[in-house]
Amino acid sequence: MLRAILFALSKLSWAQRLIMRWGFAWRTASRFIAGEKLEDAIQVVQTLNSQGIQASLDPLGENTLRPEDAVQATADILQILDRIKQAGVQSNVSIKLTQVGLALGDDLCKENLVRILKRAQSYGNFIRLDMEDSSYTDRTLNLYHQMRAAGFDNVGVVIQTCLFRSENDIRSLASEIAKVRLCKGAYKEPPEIAYPKKADVDAAFDRLTECLFDEALTTYDPALLIDPIIPPIPAIATHDPIRIENAKKYAEKISLPQSAFEFQMLYGIRRDLQQNLAAQHYRVRIYVPYGTRWYPYFMRRMAERPGNLWILISNLFRR
Ligand code: FDA
Repeated sequence: MLRAILFALSKLSWAQRLIMRWGFAWRTASRFIAGEKLEDAIQVVQTLNSQGIQASLDPLGENTLRPEDAVQATADILQILDRIKQAGVQSNVSIKLTQVGLALGDDLCKENLVRILKRAQSYGNFIRLDMEDSSYTDRTLNLYHQMRAAGFDNVGVVIQTCLFRSENDIRSLASEIAKVRLCKGAYKEPPEIAYPKKADVDAAFDRLTECLFDEALTTYDPALLIDPIIPPIPAIATHDPIRIENAKKYAEKISLPQSAFEFQMLYGIRRDLQQNLAAQHYRVRIYVPYGTRWYPYFMRRMAERPGNLWILISNLFRR
């Protein structure tokens, strides 16, 4: 019930205007967000890199409703790629297609995406297309396929294990040697298309991890150097210790080397787990969001764990 309210609030512009004005909301959000400026995020990435952990920068923003804003968001992403190169940090970039115009039409979005992928290609960098709610799944996958067909191999997608369709999507992506980030899914989806029970989402996560690992094993080439910016085929994105243990066990069972996959986690969540995995020589990449458009991202983090509301309430009483 509380989760449903938080999801609903994440989409309401009046709630956004109200909550973003509260200083204590930002104090809580800043636990999950590297800062409002690119330089704040670059500093976070430098610290992570010094701990042997890689990053994926996420310039916050989604559901852009005016073409000029989609063009501006694209220009900002190009600037991030320039800055990553200039700073020499080990980070790629995660973007949302609605940020660069998907809600306004495929053509505008495609034009912006091509510009981003070309710039990334010129720097040997990589763009991950985050997956948004199920109303965008087909169009996101279509644009991904179009980019691969156009010769871009520096692009990857995300599959959400909460959706029934994901098993088929993973199998068809595997045949294209796609780079896939596997996550449970952060949106509230209807029961006709998604597992309502967490246990089913978790079981699907383990099954799809195994599919991706099998694929990674058949394409693994020990002669290839590990690139800290380009991710391997499977990126296992979760903070769930059981999912992580199951992934580690399956990799060991099929003798998939640790360098052939990576674990991904969100900035500010389970830092202990992030550091333990890195200390065990697993590849770890942290998703580092930053920017002023933090409201929907923050509300999804609250909805995932309504217990976070206590942090919000305690920040209300902190001066
Ligand atoms: P689960 O929800 O079972 O949580 C496991 C444990 O993690 C909890 O017990 C708690 O300790 C901790 N935890 C999880 N969420 C927390 C929170 N908000 N606050 C505090 N602790 C928390 N989704 C999507 O739909 N599209 C996408 O593109 C992405 N991209 C993405 C990238 C990366 C790197 C990650 C890690 C996740 C995503 N997600 C996503 C979000 C994902 O779908 C999912 O909502 C969250 O990761 C939470 O699920 P867990 O797998 O962590 O499991």
